[in-house]
Amino acid sequence: LDNGLARTPPMGWLAWERFRCNTDCKNDPDNCISENLFRTMADIVISEGYAAVGYEYINVDDCWLEKERNNYGQLVPDRQRFPRGMKSLSDYVHSKGLKFGIYEDYGNYTCAGYPGVLGYLRTDAQTFASWDVDYIKLDGCYAHPSEMDRGYPEFGYYLNQTGRAMIYSCSWPVYQIYAGMQPNFSAIIEHCNLWRNFDDIQDSWASVESIIDYYGNNQDVIVANAGPGHWNDPDMLIIGNFGLSYEQSKTQMAIWAILAAPLLMSVDLRSIRPEYKAILQNKKIIAVDQDPLGIQGRRIYKHKGIEIWSRPITPLYQNYFSYAIAFLNRRTDGTPSDVAVTLKELGLTSPTGYRVEDLYEDVDYGVLSPQTKIKVKVNPSGVVILRADVQSDYKRRVPYFTTQR
Ligand code: GLA
Ligand code: GLA
Repeated sequence: LDNGLARTPPMGWLAWERFRCNTDCKNDPDNCISENLFRTMADIVISEGYAAVGYEYINVDDCWLEKERNNYGQLVPDRQRFPRGMKSLSDYVHSKGLKFGIYEDYGNYTCAGYPGVLGYLRTDAQTFASWDVDYIKLDGCYAHPSEMDRGYPEFGYYLNQTGRAMIYSCSWPVYQIYAGMQPNFSAIIEHCNLWRNFDDIQDSWASVESIIDYYGNNQDVIVANAGPGHWNDPDMLIIGNFGLSYEQSKTQMAIWAILAAPLLMSVDLRSIRPEYKAILQNKKIIAVDQDPLGIQGRRIYKHKGIEIWSRPITPLYQNYFSYAIAFLNRRTDGTPSDVAVTLKELGLTSPTGYRVEDLYEDVDYGVLSPQTKIKVKVNPSGVVILRADVQSDYKRRVPYFTTQR
């Protein structure tokens, strides 16, 4: 969607995967979906350095509504859990220099059974604009997938009519795929800033693996749809929760960056352990995710549990891209696997060479020629992610192979 927003994949915090539809503020006041939860997360996004590395949106998901609209047909936030209302929460988030996102559904109900926008498209778009919402995720439960080709653009039209710039996140393709339809991606690109293609992420490595496989197996259809203003959304980052090991968490971050994915953390930022926070705040990997070219990467090799994923990034020199390269070990034999490959075999052929560095470990390989063989050790269910910056002729004149290992 060419609305000037999401020129790089959106980054922020989203409630759903970690906090779900917990509405029990009486017995679980610290974890229920309430204005306090979002205020607290906004505070921590600032105080713990997440905003400084690019996380910006504080996004409400399902279960924020009263079950009934008011007498004017308007949406009403739950009176117990959001006593000061959504404008007040939005103002608070903005006062921190952050942006505010909200959730609704193009159907009769949201997935958790709260009122959907159907029949109230114009009213609801106006309500969100009046609350200074910056980001709207429009889900697709309790709607007919065949009506989405009309409905998602129609709600987008009403958003546009408000004059307020709002990121528009759609679930349009995933529900159509579930219904056996082939999504019209050129229409989806035109009307949405991001969209879900596949299943909800759950708190497990199996879930992350299934998403990685989906994006790899369907990349010929999916990859070309991504670009500045329009992104595939493989769903939230679950790093720092219960289901992923340290290695697996590094893998999710690396592969999401290769996929040019939105980076929406769904984790309790009050209790996240420092090593997981460090993964989420890895600036070098975030820079790959946020690369201005906005080209989504691909799986370029898959054999006996070893995968190699590659994403073209800046800088460019003549006709050569730079690359982020992720080596992924899906084996479960308990031993790190060696992978050895020349840059040329990875498609890195510039005669001027590439400066190669590891984005998790402090390893600088120096400037390497396409013929150089690099060797990495990849832990089970873990990843090694490298960045290879193409060199200009000028740099070529400085000593060539300065490998340090
Ligand atoms: C769907 C979406 C999830 C979440 C829930 C809320 O399953 O895909 O991301 O928003 O609805 O009910
Ligand atoms: C029909 C049904 C409604 C609703 C819409 C969804 O109109 O009668 O209940 O499900 O489709 O588009």
